[in-house]
Amino acid sequence: MFISEGLNQSATKPELYSSLRSQLLSLLAEELDFISNAANLSSLLYHSIPDLNWAGFYLHKDGELVLGPFQGQPACVRIAIGKGVCGTAALQRQTIIVHDVHDFPGHIACDSASNSEIVVQLVKDNRLIGVLDLDSPTVGRFDEEDARGLNELVEVFAESL
Ligand code: SME
Repeated sequence: MFISEGLNQSATKPELYSSLRSQLLSLLAEELDFISNAANLSSLLYHSIPDLNWAGFYLHKDGELVLGPFQGQPACVRIAIGKGVCGTAALQRQTIIVHDVHDFPGHIACDSASNSEIVVQLVKDNRLIGVLDLDSPTVGRFDEEDARGLNELVEVFAESL
């Protein structure tokens, strides 16, 4: 299906995201179905990025975000635009990095193991398709390198749509 490049634990974040980009391109080359590709991307991220407890999509449907393909514990299904980290990222149309979710007003706690979070937008032709959400049990897990790497990945995914 895709060739894992077998990165070791000492890979830098740019090396990790570069490897993920190659693996995503391989996945996308084989299939056009949106749900299948989003499911495989969430699995790829969940199993390749260290220290995550959740990775997946919320999809923009009828003016709200609805749970899409993901890996991790069962999660809340519907998030209003402007609510929580996901809804705020969707409203503001920007990446949000939350150092400590307990300090984010209105954070929606789906899994009590989550302590930090990053949400990036999936946009096609200036239309919000959804958001990609990653959670970690470690406070301060995500930084600008993660934001850059994840945005590149969702751009590759958006181009395939
Ligand atoms: N914490 C998110 C909700 C989704 S779960 O983390 C999977 C939020 O505040 O929008």
